[in-house]
Amino acid sequence: METWDAIRSRRNVRTFTDRPVGAADLERILEAARRTPSSSNRQRWDFVVVTDRERLRRLAGVWRGAGHIAGSAATIALIAPQADDPHIRESIQYDLGQVTMSVMLAAADAGIGSGHAAVEDQHLAREILGFPEDRFCAWLIALGHPADRPLRPVRRPDRRPLDEVVHRERW
Ligand SMILES: Cc1cc2nc3c(=O)[nH]c(=O)nc-3n(C[C@H](O)[C@H](O)[C@H](O)COP(=O)(O)O)c2cc1C
Repeated sequence: METWDAIRSRRNVRTFTDRPVGAADLERILEAARRTPSSSNRQRWDFVVVTDRERLRRLAGVWRGAGHIAGSAATIALIAPQADDPHIRESIQYDLGQVTMSVMLAAADAGIGSGHAAVEDQHLAREILGFPEDRFCAWLIALGHPADRPLRPVRRPDRRPLDEVVHRERW
């Protein structure tokens, strides 16, 4: 898919077919995550890839908006260091936002749907995924082939108009 088409086709997908994500596609998606830029190239992230159905089902319990994780073909958990300093926390979250978009665009490029989920229950996430005490699970990204309709460029995105959000030269 062209980059422009991948950008326009990505949307949150929350229902997936039973078809697994191919190994080559999954590796490419993870490679896209690894290549993401980060503040001072610190790369304060680890990725836990989950494909086991029972583990996915349990993972769906970490947040009331994470139900779609259960039916995903694979989910990538973004794990990051805990930080007390709010500036460091913000910087880590910025970097993770970029990882998320890299993953989602690489997935869209391969025709694979993706959907974010937040994580509320860190204790449960740690129990399921086994990450160390000094880390937390920041976000989950569900992946799979869309069960509703294939990814196609969204004609009329549910977004504020360009003229409203873009300020040219000055606000
Ligand atoms: C930081 C962030 C957290 C999100 N958390 C969730 C979530 O927990 N559950 C969910 O179903 N969608 C979640 N979303 C998806 C958004 O609701 C979605 O991206 C937004 O409504 C725009 O729709 P689109 O992605 O289909 O364009 C999240 C998105 C972002 C950027």
